[in-house]
Amino acid sequence: MPGGLGASCTGIDLSQKIAARDRVALLDAFRTHHVLVIRDQHLDKARLADFAGIFGEVEGNIFRKTDGSLLEAVHEITNFGADGRPSADPYLKSNFNWHTDKAYQAVPSLLTMLLALELPPSGGDTQFADMTAAYDALSEATKAEIAGLKVVHSFEHMRVSTGDRPLTAAEREATPPVTHPLVRTHPDTGRKCLYIGMYCSHIEGMDATASRAMLDRLLAHATEPRFIYTHQWRPNDLVLWDNRCLVHRAVANYELERHRRVLMRVVVKGTVPV
Ligand code: SIN
Repeated sequence: MPGGLGASCTGIDLSQKIAARDRVALLDAFRTHHVLVIRDQHLDKARLADFAGIFGEVEGNIFRKTDGSLLEAVHEITNFGADGRPSADPYLKSNFNWHTDKAYQAVPSLLTMLLALELPPSGGDTQFADMTAAYDALSEATKAEIAGLKVVHSFEHMRVSTGDRPLTAAEREATPPVTHPLVRTHPDTGRKCLYIGMYCSHIEGMDATASRAMLDRLLAHATEPRFIYTHQWRPNDLVLWDNRCLVHRAVANYELERHRRVLMRVVVKGTVPV
């Protein structure tokens, strides 16, 4: 995988109690490689939450399902429409845009885990782009230009700009815009990374056109093929990634309206980006 991004962990069964030395090895591998792929895992929701807990506090959800109940901390993401069948509904498509999870919150996610339950016969990949390598590859002039800039992240901006469904009043109230540094320092590695993606509304204090042009230019640079790892899923793959230094997206390289794609998801809470 490019530049050390991503590692495959073998010889571990996460359905069993994790030995102390395996726990240390997993935490080390995560700190170094930022995407871990662990194949052939058979976990229920409780076990997935337990495993996520070794990385930090499992995060609840602020969003509600169509029946009004809160989305559980461990939940399924699917390509199903309102009728529960595979769908190419545009409202399901925001995940096809580069993003880092929960950047619209004052305290965004540390990591996300997905466990593949049902997959299309081919495709349905997930891509990850390395925001540390992308920052390092910027010219010194660009690094100086963006130093100290702050970006407004907005859930509503994401919904509008991706053509996803309009916010309900409750969603608007739960997701006021927040501000994060455009370049954050990774709390474990001490390295600088671009902190951008589909929730970025604008750069604080900058003219809207110039701000959009700069954000688009940085994202285009950061998602060049040289910075990307593409995960081609197999059933029972568990993949976890570091939202602090990566952006990711689902890839629509399968027939959405024909094949089921179901993954179990859990998120671990991070810290305020600085
Ligand atoms: C996500 O964006 O959290 C999910 C990515 C995927 O469905 O591959």
